[in-house]
Amino acid sequence: MATLIDGKDVAAKLRAQIAAEVETLDPKPGLAVVLVGEEPASEIYVRLKQKKCAEVGIESFKHELPEKTTEDGLLALIDKLNKDEKVNGILVQLPLPKHINKFKVMDAVLPEKDVDGFHARNIGLLVQGQQGLQSCTPRGVMALLKAYDIELAGKEVVVIGRSLIVGNPVAQLLMNENATVTICHSRTNDLSLYTKKADVIVSAVGRKNLVTADMVSEGAVVIDVGTVRDGTKLCGDVDFENVKEQCSAITPVPGGVGPMTIACLLENTLLAYKMQKGGA
Ligand code: GUN
Repeated sequence: MATLIDGKDVAAKLRAQIAAEVETLDPKPGLAVVLVGEEPASEIYVRLKQKKCAEVGIESFKHELPEKTTEDGLLALIDKLNKDEKVNGILVQLPLPKHINKFKVMDAVLPEKDVDGFHARNIGLLVQGQQGLQSCTPRGVMALLKAYDIELAGKEVVVIGRSLIVGNPVAQLLMNENATVTICHSRTNDLSLYTKKADVIVSAVGRKNLVTADMVSEGAVVIDVGTVRDGTKLCGDVDFENVKEQCSAITPVPGGVGPMTIACLLENTLLAYKMQKGGA
């Protein structure tokens, strides 16, 4: 039976560290969360982000805009938040309505306040291996691997998914830790050909049972970033019950990567605050 990688526990410890540091700060760090439209899942995430901010002493400012908000209207709000000294981090919840160009929005946020790590400058710094703000879920994955002492240097890692939010940046972070990384995606011909060779599999697609036991080598580490609603249940990309018999360590869904994403958002807000005050 594999080691269960307990994201709830690692996230709680990270939040406790953040809370202890925030306690010493005056003024407190502030995070602005912008929600456009009425996507129910986004509303749940935004509420949770605000709750966790409050728990660690970070101030949060919620901005809810109607679905029909224009791109210029959203850009004007971002400009206001960029100039607001109480706001150290800005998060614009994705997805955005189709009439808004998300890349324009991502690049409008000041790179120093870009707690999502989506600005072209922060992505460039990530590729250069320099300090910048890095996206939250990939950071969460890396923090879990570190917490469980999972060696990456020289290891074969397969990332499934090439999104801007997870697949791409996590592959970059893994390379920065000297792993040999293969990125597979929806057009990969034979996924199992790659996964069977992997020491570590990071799956970030959002398809139930995408990764089955026959695709995983004995002793591999499996990180499941997928979130799929299955009726009232939340599940990941990985056939957990069967894969756990095969691998050496695995993240559950829920309770694996999920709690780390928000903890890393809080950490990024604190880091942004310190960068703006000249302390990082
Ligand atoms: N929607 C789903 N995940 C994310 C994320 O990490 N950041 C933002 N801004 N929106 C999301």
